[in-house]
Amino acid sequence: MSKTVLLAGGAGYIGSHTAIELLNKDFDVVIADCHYNSSPIVYERLEEITGQKIKHYDIDVADMQAMRQVFEENKIEAVIDFAGYKAVGESVQKPLMYYENNLNTTFSLLHLMKEYNVANIIFSSSATVYGMENQSPLVESMRLGPCTNPYGWTKLMNEQILMDEAKSNTNLSVVLLRYFNPIGAHASGRIGEDPKGIPNNLMPYIAQVASGKLQQLSVFGDDYDTHDGTGVRDYIHVVDLAKAHVLAVDYAAGRKGSDVFNIGTGVGYSVLDMVKAFEKVNSLTIPYKIAPRRAGDIATCYADSTKAKELLGWEAEKNLEDMCRDTWNWQKGNPEGYR
Ligand code: UD1
Repeated sequence: MSKTVLLAGGAGYIGSHTAIELLNKDFDVVIADCHYNSSPIVYERLEEITGQKIKHYDIDVADMQAMRQVFEENKIEAVIDFAGYKAVGESVQKPLMYYENNLNTTFSLLHLMKEYNVANIIFSSSATVYGMENQSPLVESMRLGPCTNPYGWTKLMNEQILMDEAKSNTNLSVVLLRYFNPIGAHASGRIGEDPKGIPNNLMPYIAQVASGKLQQLSVFGDDYDTHDGTGVRDYIHVVDLAKAHVLAVDYAAGRKGSDVFNIGTGVGYSVLDMVKAFEKVNSLTIPYKIAPRRAGDIATCYADSTKAKELLGWEAEKNLEDMCRDTWNWQKGNPEGYR
């Protein structure tokens, strides 16, 4: 019998791609999502891609009473916790909303997992937990924080909460995945990243400049200590990232306690590298101007993902060309996202 994985907040960018990879590996998938930052249209698209019906509950993961129905009606083997707000700037404006939601979603899941004897949880963490002081390549054993914004703190706090819970509840297996910079989209071009309003992140911004929705990219700083002065990041294809979740579900099932993995390619590209690659792969021009640095940014951030390779058997397979092509393929076909 197939094992069922609950994707909490699973209708979003990373969750939707993970649903496909789980279904490809014969897991059953249940999604719980209140669509604060995702569209229900994603279910139709997932059904179109996979040929399977997607079981979903349109409820708030933080609402434990409502979520009880999901645990009651499904024999859940593992939970993947994608349910969090993720806009850095907004988290600075609305810290209470971020702490409240991002922690309560995880609390709700942990309580229900205990009540229904669900042993395995994978958590969406972020490279942001390494703070500003560590030198890349970033290794899991490095000291964490301080974070520069409430969003980052919620990731760090949730990591701690999950690790503490795994110490006390010896039935529990926790896997923390620290994502670097996910970009790209499913090869079908039917699902992808659909940011609310003006994108904060580089790749969706470039994609919207390419489509003519936005006029010009602002490159935040060209005087960093990097090969061309612009910020360097570890961009990872969302499908590679999705596959890491499938491996993490298998890994969690075989053990107890907690473990943490960087999920990045180990290669850093600058903002201008990304602009040039996007232009070349898609044969178009991205107008840009150099702008002041953005507060809270660091020069360079990339992963050492040796641990994920050794223990999860995971490695990024897609390259920069794939990431640029697939981002544009999604944007071109869905200029207004899912709307
Ligand atoms: C950002 C968040 C990080 C979060 C991640 C989620 C900040 C400071 N960090 O990471 O906490 O986990 O998103 O995806 O917001 N850039 C431009 N012009 C733009 C947008 C970005 O030049 O319009 C540059 C940035 O300065 C940076 C690089 O592009 O050097 C990547 O930026 P972004 O995509 O926002 O990701 P991070 O800042 O790495």
